[in-house]
Amino acid sequence: MNKTTKKNTTNYTLLTIKEGTTKIQIPQFNKVSSKAPVFYNPQMELNRDISILALQTFQKKENRELNICDLFGGSGIRAIRYKNEIQGIKNATINDINPTANQFEKINIKLNNLKNINTTQKEANTLLRENKGKFDIIDIDPFGTPSPFIDSAGYSARKNSLICITATDTSALCGTYKEPCIRKYNAKPYKSEYCHETGIRILAGYIALTLAKYKKHINIQLSHSTQHYMRLYIETQKGSQSTDQSLKKIGYISHCPHCLYRKTTYGLANNTPHTCPECQTKLTHAGPLWLGKIQNKKFIKQMIKETKNKKLNTKKESTKLLQTCLNEAESEPTFYDIHTLCKNLKISAPKLDLIIENIKKQGHTVQKTHFQPLGIKTKMPISQIKKTIIQLTK
Ligand SMILES: C[S@@+](CC[C@H](N)C(=O)[O-])C[C@H]1O[C@@H](n2cnc3c(N)ncnc32)[C@H](O)[C@@H]1O
Repeated sequence: MNKTTKKNTTNYTLLTIKEGTTKIQIPQFNKVSSKAPVFYNPQMELNRDISILALQTFQKKENRELNICDLFGGSGIRAIRYKNEIQGIKNATINDINPTANQFEKINIKLNNLKNINTTQKEANTLLRENKGKFDIIDIDPFGTPSPFIDSAGYSARKNSLICITATDTSALCGTYKEPCIRKYNAKPYKSEYCHETGIRILAGYIALTLAKYKKHINIQLSHSTQHYMRLYIETQKGSQSTDQSLKKIGYISHCPHCLYRKTTYGLANNTPHTCPECQTKLTHAGPLWLGKIQNKKFIKQMIKETKNKKLNTKKESTKLLQTCLNEAESEPTFYDIHTLCKNLKISAPKLDLIIENIKKQGHTVQKTHFQPLGIKTKMPISQIKKTIIQLTK
């Protein structure tokens, strides 16, 4: 983000921001807060840069002109960037319930000399309900939880559309607060070393189950948990049989708090195991959640290619994140955090690369994960991982 300040007719001291090739003006603010006259968070530039790459990839894949809805526009930075920096965007609608945000969206559209981009000032659900089948891309970037808007997005989304969703209520999704997660996502979370992944899977499971009533199923192209938020890029397709089929990927993760064993069980009315087969401790469960893929290799590869065509301030960071997501694309749910494992074993941790090398030597695949710098994803049983680590410390 590059910024300059000046005064203007609106009586606000204005801040000029540049992201990508787009300039916007917003009222000066002291602190990023929902109480600011117009909301803007510089920390979300990475999120917006990744969105540029995802939307361009989706557009090229679909090979058609797209209509975008930026449901929670704020300053308009997202939709204005999408219209300005992505090829093949036919029309963009920027919506925000806040009249000051709406005023600045208009100022910022003019500032970038854009055509075929309009603003609306509606409650998000109303806008979606009134525009069924209009949008190819629905971007949901609210304060906190996206949960109250998922049903309308499912109802409204066109066939073969892309729904982009941000959630900042990570304390609920990750299980710091259990009840809000049950309330908002109808799922039980638990706090563990891989709770950010469980959180994304709870959110994805909730989206899959909500969209299913409209005979729509989900295909996750990219998901990431970064700083204080989670973000998902989900393609939706229509069909009752394919939707029924996709719901088979809903299930539960059972976790042993004593020895860190974990197991996935598919299905809603399922037989989750009660006790840990390794140490007989009572297991704790998270779900229902999405046990299917949360990254799409082909889509992410194309996104990485797109970084060469775009001017992004976070290019290095974006590419690094995408590369890690690509590497973990084929892996199974959950991962092992080396520090947590070693604490559990009461030993000091060997080097991560050494552990990876030794797991590979024993014939198992192993990937790093973007969720945790010291996390590894592998199908190797936990007892064998522990043995491998202990051997390395001798
Ligand atoms: C997190 S901010 C959006 C940030 C913006 N997408 C960006 O990238 O800078 C959420 C915005 O949603 C607006 N908002 C909150 N509740 C809304 C609702 N129910 N319908 C429409 N807009 C709403 C707020 O005024 C605020 O500008």
